[in-house]
Amino acid sequence: MISALIDLNRADDDGLVAQLTSQLRSLIATGRLGKGRALPSSRRLASDLGISRNTVTYAFEQLAAEGYLAASHGRRPVVTVEGGANGDGMGAAVSGARSAKPRLAPWASQLTRADWPMSYQAPLKPLRPGHGDAREFPNEIWARCLRRSAVRAARRELGPVNRTRLCEVLAHYLATSRGVRATADQILILPSAQAALTLIAVSLIAPGDEVWVEDPGYPGAAAAFRASGARVTGMKLDEQGMQRMPGAAAPKLVFMTPSHQHPTGRLMSLARRTEFLRSSRPGKTWIVEDDYDGEFHYDSRPVPALQGLDGHGRVFYVGTFSKAMTSDIRLGYLVVPPALVGTLEVAQRHIGLIASSNIQEALAEFIADGHFLAHLRRVRRLYHARRDHLVEGLQRHLGEVLTTEVPSGGIQLVARLKRGRADQAAVKRLAEAGVVTRALSSLALGKPRDHGLLLGFAAWRENEISAALRTMAACF
Ligand SMILES: Cc1ncc(COP(=O)(O)O)c(C=O)c1O
Repeated sequence: MISALIDLNRADDDGLVAQLTSQLRSLIATGRLGKGRALPSSRRLASDLGISRNTVTYAFEQLAAEGYLAASHGRRPVVTVEGGANGDGMGAAVSGARSAKPRLAPWASQLTRADWPMSYQAPLKPLRPGHGDAREFPNEIWARCLRRSAVRAARRELGPVNRTRLCEVLAHYLATSRGVRATADQILILPSAQAALTLIAVSLIAPGDEVWVEDPGYPGAAAAFRASGARVTGMKLDEQGMQRMPGAAAPKLVFMTPSHQHPTGRLMSLARRTEFLRSSRPGKTWIVEDDYDGEFHYDSRPVPALQGLDGHGRVFYVGTFSKAMTSDIRLGYLVVPPALVGTLEVAQRHIGLIASSNIQEALAEFIADGHFLAHLRRVRRLYHARRDHLVEGLQRHLGEVLTTEVPSGGIQLVARLKRGRADQAAVKRLAEAGVVTRALSSLALGKPRDHGLLLGFAAWRENEISAALRTMAACF
């Protein structure tokens, strides 16, 4: 008897019609009421369930409209779809719990592999790495730039993508502050640095291509290249930065963070940069230089970008405003070797990785009027002091258990465990005590060689760093 399969709750906020409809739908979708089965008349079912006939009639009408039932006046409604495992897909889509695992394209199944540490979702609390201090951002000035840009929007002609004032302003800024050699039309404005890596990967990487990345390194890069089918090999680091694999055939692409290696903060030596450039044959091996936090240098003048050393159009230069401004600005950029500009622009448009022209215009003004450099000068001083505060505190309170690598710039540092390899357990313990860190071993490509903690300093005030250090000292 169908009424025995239905359990209506009169106290439920969902009305009786909605409950009855949903339960009948699910009985059909799961195959318990099979195709061709005649349901009781509305009068009969209403009486069996002790509800009004109208309630049943409305439910039948709804299911008929959705295509589950054929109902005609004076006749008992009949189930019209096959549910359950042998169903036509309609039922499976509705039942959810019993739906078959969708078959993904290789790209998505690579990206959603459970063993990849790409999605780092820790609370934004001291000493979470990877951020600048959003509280120090000059919001009033930025709001004025945004407002002016919005007001001008109606008069602005929407020209071709990447022919914006921001590209002009950026070309000048990158030449003077980072030594990047590029014309404005080599610059693609994108929503993030990660978008730039994805764009490069989908444009250049074919299944089986060899890609070298730093190990430990930035998981987002390995993920983007692997998703396109690359064989990604992790390169060890020494004090000069990423090493080349002796005797190995040249890869299709090398990804590196030479200004401040992610995560160690090491600066790649000039000798090593030249070595990588010399061994990259134009048109055969591409280098991707990710300068995600190159604006922050504390101990000496910044070393110019590797891109500026290349005279053969082999280097992509990737940057982002998510560290130097706020992560929510959603603006990054990619300087593309001349031979690939057209191809990457087509790919960019097709994937739809286009940034808002309003925000671009506001940022162009923010940079051109000197606010960006003024902001950088101010936070550079702050972050420098915060780095020193953290380094000094780590040495004083945790010198027995951790060895600190002092980065010459950037927004985070690595403190290695002096004994043992239990960095993941330490991260868990610290998180329970309220201090957010990241395990160095979670940034390894294969079997971790390094064990320690990645600690952010830029985003946290000195008193917050001190409090976190006290908690850490009590945990070790
Ligand atoms: C080395 C490195 N590159 C790129 C990014 C991504 O930057 P975006 O937020 O612009 O995607 C990050 C983010 O943490 C990073 O650490």
